Amino acid sequence: RPVILLGAPLDCGKRRRGCLMGPDALRTAGLAEALAELGLAPRDDGNLTAGPPPVIPSPNPRIFALAETVAWTTRLFEAARAALAEGTPVFLGGDHALSLGTVAGAAAHAAEVGRPLFVLWLDAHADFHTPLTTSSGNLHGTPLGYVTGRAGFDAFPPLVAPVPEANVALFGLRSVDPAEREALTGSPACVVDMRRIDEEGIARPLAAFLERVAAAGGMLHVSLDVDFLDPSVAPAVGTTVPGGASVREAHLVMEMIHDSGLMTSLDLVELNPFLDERGRTAQLMVDLAASAFGRRVFDRPTRSFAA
Ligand code: ARG
Ligand code: MN
Ligand code: MN
Ligand code: MN
Repeated sequence: RPVILLGAPLDCGKRRRGCLMGPDALRTAGLAEALAELGLAPRDDGNLTAGPPPVIPSPNPRIFALAETVAWTTRLFEAARAALAEGTPVFLGGDHALSLGTVAGAAAHAAEVGRPLFVLWLDAHADFHTPLTTSSGNLHGTPLGYVTGRAGFDAFPPLVAPVPEANVALFGLRSVDPAEREALTGSPACVVDMRRIDEEGIARPLAAFLERVAAAGGMLHVSLDVDFLDPSVAPAVGTTVPGGASVREAHLVMEMIHDSGLMTSLDLVELNPFLDERGRTAQLMVDLAASAFGRRVFDRPTRSFAA
């Protein structure tokens, strides 16, 4: 099953521009070459384009670029579904509104093949808003709300297969809005914020989640937002929050994902090359993707971190 690179230069999920250059920055940083070194022969299908924006009423005047985001969601839903039938797609964003479509499409594919979909959300933010609860109006803050079937997404394509909140894990949280906190309180989602990572380390909670995915025979969609990382190592993102994951924590996550053999699709999102420093953030995202696909320093016996 080939690794398929799909560029999605969408920039409509928030007001600050620049993520449309993300796909080409990831290519320039050598994503295809890094995967080829691992013996993977990735196929680059180039960049997707969205269809014409639909004419739809907005449920909330604060919302930015609703029609354009819906058009991208429709396009990415189909692209994800089709690519998963053929191989392992890697979506090169684009901002996190990309995942409205990719996760919904992955869920539709999983339902078709009769397997549960699990989602690993690596992000400073929960992105658990709905068009009704968002205070910024930025739809990149809503994809997990959409794919888990929260109300308020009437303007969006109807969800074929909602992802149960119990199948979602959020790692790296350190900026959660009140409405999101309320919605996540009592949710069965696995929430691993930075404090928990500080106290327990990142490996144990991740191993527990991966074991759950494996036991369920699940497919795993991984969504990596640049701001999961600490801004000191990943400055090229519009929504930096201090106190993020270190380079070492992030590589460990990616290596454990590879070792699990569970990842079936991947988003690399929120890279804003306009804000980068000599390509260092793009390079780090490429290196992390390489770790997720098997780059390692030494082979070592598999360890279980489960309690
Ligand atoms: N919670 C904030 C908002 O809704 C920030 C969202 C940031 N999301 C992201 N994908 N970077 O505006
Ligand atoms: Mn995000
Ligand atoms: Mn974020
Ligand atoms: Mn928010």
